[in-house]
Amino acid sequence: MQSVSMTEELWQHLLSLRNHALRPVGLPAGLEASCLSLYKRIALRNGPFVLAQVGQSLDGRVATPTGDAQDVSGCDGIAHLHRCRALADAVVVGVGTVVADNPSLSVRAVSGKSPVRVVIDCNGRMPGMAKMLHDGGMPVIVMQAADIALHEGRHETIRLPRQADGGLAPRDILKALAERGLTTVLVEGGANTISRFVDAGLVDRLHVSVAPIIIGSGPAGIRLSPIDRLSEARRPEVDIYNIGTDIVFDCNLRAEAERRVLADRENILMADTA
Ligand SMILES: NC(=O)c1ccc[n+]([C@@H]2O[C@H](COP(=O)([O-])OP(=O)(O)OC[C@H]3O[C@@H](n4cnc5c(N)ncnc54)[C@H](OP(=O)(O)O)[C@@H]3O)[C@@H](O)[C@H]2O)c1
Repeated sequence: MQSVSMTEELWQHLLSLRNHALRPVGLPAGLEASCLSLYKRIALRNGPFVLAQVGQSLDGRVATPTGDAQDVSGCDGIAHLHRCRALADAVVVGVGTVVADNPSLSVRAVSGKSPVRVVIDCNGRMPGMAKMLHDGGMPVIVMQAADIALHEGRHETIRLPRQADGGLAPRDILKALAERGLTTVLVEGGANTISRFVDAGLVDRLHVSVAPIIIGSGPAGIRLSPIDRLSEARRPEVDIYNIGTDIVFDCNLRAEAERRVLADRENILMADTA
């Protein structure tokens, strides 16, 4: 496990990488920079990048059964989330999170620019009074199914085809964002939204930020399609970082998805030649 202690100098260096500065803020030689490996791949923007992040308790929950989700993460976990937002072009949440938490999705705990806010609201239930629509912050984009009445408001609406499962295809969502120049994407939750992106094999890294708190009951941070056997469980390579109040598990889902595709191909080949 690596210990991360972020300094203003390191953070400004990462922001300059994120902003394609021709001459990024330099770092003194030999500076201990384990946090660079946690954030650099998000900042560098070598092509489209999808990061999902969950802030959860020791027992894997993100809220109480009554929906109280305030401060599951410690202060360093919150700073980590805000760093991820500052490095992203767009932050994506499901409408369930807007209804439950009424978030602003802005960058406040660290310096840096807030991302464009994206709400997946297939069926048009985004509350007109949602804070993000009235706070004068970054633009809000609402993703809606093309087959419902257009819900116009203080936001851009993107209408996408409804899929056979009743939802919107995460690939269509990312394509629509890329067409607007938004290619580094943070999928912030909740579990329903993250699971759709993970199940579609579109998440490069998953950050699970665990705070030393036991909630005991309440919704989980990640909820994937059910499996029967533990041998089918996802086993990504994980880098672990002690960020202070919380521990971040940085999971390489891209490499894990590629391994799965290769294994499936080998199984098909073996079945064909048997
Ligand atoms: N701790 C954390 O890191 C964190 C972060 C964010 C949220 N949360 C918590 O998560 C909870 C909310 O999570 P949730 O899982 O209930 O809801 P959610 O993921 O925020 O929203 C789910 C809803 O969004 C819409 N949606 C998302 N992806 C879609 C897609 N691909 N296609 C169509 N519709 C899509 C659907 O709306 P319709 O049902 O209208 O079709 C779906 O029911 C809250 O308690 C919140 O506090 C925790």
